[in-house]
Amino acid sequence: MSKRGIGTRAVHGAKDPRPGPLTVPIVQSSTFVFGSSAEMQRYLEGDEQLYLYTRYENPTLRELEQTLAALEEGEAGLVLSSGMAAATTGLLSLVKAGDEVLASASLYGGTTRLVREVLPSLGVATRILPPAELARLGALVGPRTKAVVVESPTNPSLDVLDLAAVAAAAHDHGLAVMADNTFATPVLQRPLGLGVDLVMHSLTKALGGHSDIIGGALVGSRERIDKARSLLKVLGGCLDPHSAFLALRGLKTLHLRVHRQCENALALACHLECHPKIARVLYPGLRSHPGHDVARLQMSGFGGVVAFVLKGGLAAAERFYDGLGLMARAASLGGVETLVSLPVHTSHHGYTDEQLKAAGVDPGTVRVALGVEDAPDLIEDASRALEAV
Ligand SMILES: Cc1ncc(COP(=O)(O)O)c(C=O)c1O
Repeated sequence: MSKRGIGTRAVHGAKDPRPGPLTVPIVQSSTFVFGSSAEMQRYLEGDEQLYLYTRYENPTLRELEQTLAALEEGEAGLVLSSGMAAATTGLLSLVKAGDEVLASASLYGGTTRLVREVLPSLGVATRILPPAELARLGALVGPRTKAVVVESPTNPSLDVLDLAAVAAAAHDHGLAVMADNTFATPVLQRPLGLGVDLVMHSLTKALGGHSDIIGGALVGSRERIDKARSLLKVLGGCLDPHSAFLALRGLKTLHLRVHRQCENALALACHLECHPKIARVLYPGLRSHPGHDVARLQMSGFGGVVAFVLKGGLAAAERFYDGLGLMARAASLGGVETLVSLPVHTSHHGYTDEQLKAAGVDPGTVRVALGVEDAPDLIEDASRALEAV
């Protein structure tokens, strides 16, 4: 089944249509009734037709988990209440107090805080490294090192990491690799096939696709997902069935939306590349991008996010932001509406100049997360906002 095209898997998930409702019912129930102690026993022995409690599993959530596993070509999936719930549950399923985690310096701000502040407070040592160093782990690995956390393309600098090289280097040292595939989506990149052990997503973004839910997911081997589920039961970050239904509905058009977002992103990036007020445009689809060749090999498209650095720094970026009409001034990405944010005010708020430099973020950076509108209208809006800079 997983050999079917990505669009077919997005529409149908892991199964062919069955008699009954075409769309997945929302099973909005916290708990489930057993017919007898014998049935309860069957549940305890692992009968997947039976359910106990929605924090453990739920029919609507299970459909979403199976669809995500089919899309990412993994054995199993787990859905959670947010991308950050996926990051925390996923990482805590890989390490314990006394272990060490190596993390890319170019990660979503929340994941960076988890690595920099929360894990150390739980006794897990962490080291934040320039992304390029993660493919040459060699001397960086110590006896306590157990896991590597990466993201590609990265937020907001759109760096591209060679995931196969990172995974091979990590496995040479017995480390597990968790990769955030939110920016690429399984339409453009499937990290498990490149050797990554655990894929995480913010369902809030392109997978949900309509900026109306907060959710997260993990996909990997059955063993890794069982371990993460066991932890989720205690940490408690389960997804609500109604949000799971909306995510399943969004997924049906994932491939169409992602391709349109890629087209819009390339059109905008090409238009902005020669603009006199712009110092540089960061988009893996541009030949000028240092990660272009790796992106061509490991992705089937370059994604829906474009960043650019204004020559006038943060003040110019704020004038651009204030001059927008059609593009919405909002955090997040992957929705049908184009959203614009200034990373120093959102994902990288509160960073020192040194930390911004380490994360590769210039204060004059503008991030545009393309929607599915018509490219000429978006370009016109950006051009008008640039006149105000
Ligand atoms: C790349 C990436 N990973 C993870 C997250 C966290 O996801 P959520 O907001 O669903 O917790 C985000 C959110 O912006 C993100 O952009």
